[in-house]
Amino acid sequence: MILIISLLVITLIIIILFSFPQLSPVPYFPTNKKDLPLIVKALGLKNNQTVLDLGAGDGIVIFEAAKKAYKRKLNTKFVAVEINPVLILIMNIRYLFHPNRKNIKIVFGDIFKMNYKKLLTSNFSLLTFYLYISPWFLERVIPNLKFKISNFSIVSYMYPVKSLKSKEKIICGKNKIFVYN
Ligand SMILES: C[S@@+](CC[C@H](N)C(=O)[O-])C[C@H]1O[C@@H](n2cnc3c(N)ncnc32)[C@H](O)[C@@H]1O
Repeated sequence: MILIISLLVITLIIIILFSFPQLSPVPYFPTNKKDLPLIVKALGLKNNQTVLDLGAGDGIVIFEAAKKAYKRKLNTKFVAVEINPVLILIMNIRYLFHPNRKNIKIVFGDIFKMNYKKLLTSNFSLLTFYLYISPWFLERVIPNLKFKISNFSIVSYMYPVKSLKSKEKIICGKNKIFVYN
């Protein structure tokens, strides 16, 4: 009986966390697995680079990219920022079993209130952001990054960043991948 009640409570908490826009204004939709190889290529993994996934979901992209970096013996750092505590929990469990966990950081927080400079290692000068958030949120988050960090590239899944149109390169997978260097 206690087990059933506990399961019901947990299910209810999960439903609430995924339903209330105040807790997660951009709903959770994972990146299409078929596009992962193209996305990882678009991230342009290299040494002394930090890749930040803003709104990382269950970590599908960041963990796959970290696996590739590990195989290629790169020292690339990966940061996954997420606001939904259930997804944070899932990422932390996956983290425990990841071969490249020493280079992965999982951050529970709001991408609009984040102090990005605090997340970065000073000698890691190359910055790449992966974004799969709605177009209006994209336009809100970009000026925030520009203001705080001078040089970075962006890989945006599904949605273009209108304000960076002049730098745009489009990769066509199952869905479009927009790259800004
Ligand atoms: C469309 S999903 C993408 C998930 C993941 N990046 C992927 O590619 O599979 C958007 C994610 O952004 C998260 N999110 C929404 N608003 C956020 C915010 N203000 N701060 C941090 N994460 C946020 C949601 O919880 C959701 O997991």
